[in-house]
Amino acid sequence: MGVSGQTNVSAVGVGLLGLGVVGSAVAKALLSRDQSKERKIPLALVSAVVRDPNKLRSIDLGQSIVTDDPQAVIDNNSVSIVVELMGGENPAFDYISSSLKAGKHVVTANKEVMCKRGNELLRIAADNNVELKYEASVGGGIPIIGPLTNDLVANRIQSIRAIINGTTNFILTKMAYEGADFDDVLAEAQSLGYAEADPTADVDGFDAMYKLSVLARLAYHTEMPVEGIHREGIRDIHSKDFRYAGELGFTIKLLAAAQASDESGLLARVHPALIPLEVPMASVNGVLNAVEVEGDLVGSLWFQGPGAGAEPTASAVVGDILKISESSGINSYDSATFAPFNIIPMNDHVCQYYMRLTASDQPGVLANVARVLGDAGISISAVLQKDTDIEKTQADLVIMTHPAREANMQTAVSLIRKLETVIQLDNLIRVENYAGRL
Ligand code: NAP
Ligand code: HSE
Repeated sequence: MGVSGQTNVSAVGVGLLGLGVVGSAVAKALLSRDQSKERKIPLALVSAVVRDPNKLRSIDLGQSIVTDDPQAVIDNNSVSIVVELMGGENPAFDYISSSLKAGKHVVTANKEVMCKRGNELLRIAADNNVELKYEASVGGGIPIIGPLTNDLVANRIQSIRAIINGTTNFILTKMAYEGADFDDVLAEAQSLGYAEADPTADVDGFDAMYKLSVLARLAYHTEMPVEGIHREGIRDIHSKDFRYAGELGFTIKLLAAAQASDESGLLARVHPALIPLEVPMASVNGVLNAVEVEGDLVGSLWFQGPGAGAEPTASAVVGDILKISESSGINSYDSATFAPFNIIPMNDHVCQYYMRLTASDQPGVLANVARVLGDAGISISAVLQKDTDIEKTQADLVIMTHPAREANMQTAVSLIRKLETVIQLDNLIRVENYAGRL
């Protein structure tokens, strides 16, 4: 593998846009493998574009390689494969589209640009007869884009249920098992290189929403705009929610799910969910991700592995680079196969709910809440009450409902918040339905 601008005559030139957590691991992986021995076609790292070329990095590629000029990659005749590892929609979109139009193949790990502009970029790639690969954009090191694109095409996908954000899963796991403080665990995830540049992208569910949109486009051959995805993050989850959920037989995960309800209806949602302790999803801990795909022919498939971090992500990125370098570069994307689904609103979602209230510990409190729920057609399946102060004036009231429609529950919630005896409605978490799937 050449590391200088002088590429071997037969080498495939690679240009990196970004040399951060993932970019550095990709550069190291490329350099640590002697491609000429292991592969038919050697690779040459020609150029790496960064914001600040003077920054101290975990890999020293030398001044002839590291530059702040994107044209050193996009306009460079020695570069055949551009690898975008900067993140965000812009300028990533411009750099990727310019590279594709210049006849270069592109590999990216960027779920945001693939969610918001992926359709456009795939069309540009097809028009220019080059490849755009993005395996690392969802699930880090887990191969999931490849299977959905190739191996599962014979199936009608009925549902996708996934834990696809490593940072939040890392945080929730530490809260569940160690009672750890949210901010401390977030800082640890950032230091380990899991978190996005702006951690709200992880914590508020944007990252998982982008990834779900990418998966849904592949699985259902339809555009899944972010406006059509219900999104909630994990900021309101408290360590006591894990205790109470545990007593009821559940844990809490940030779930991303897309379900086709019939031939033309699709509901996509990202939110914290109570997961029964006995299903495999409940044991997906730390930075691990898992994607459960239900196909009409294949049944249920389970993909699990490291969903974030430098080396696992580099595994997917370098895999894409090697596949392109050995293939003929034909892009199989075909927009004619797109068949639009109706987006089903979250209000039509039906599930059980876990509700935690801080209430005055006095007669009639539970009856008042039960009456509001009953008026909305929602019945209660279990109740826990815990005194929270020594004088026993306040109590945590945890109510588990039977399945209810989201719209009915939201109506009930707005009325419960107004009850005099309810001091605060602390949390409302949906219970994921695994009936018949254990
Ligand atoms: P990062 O550590 O923040 O690195 C970003 C790199 O891009 C840096 O080298 C930065 O330059 C460069 N860059 C950013 N904006 C630029 C611009 N406008 N012009 C030139 N260079 C620019 O990010 P990362 O964690 O490696 O993530 C990269 C991509 O991989 C993102 O799309 C992310 O979502 C995705 N991803 C990350 C992980 C993970 O675990 N980290 C996993 C899967 C996918 P400087 O170094 O000079 O600042
Ligand atoms: N911030 C992302 C996560 C990186 O935590 O999953 C992987 O895309």
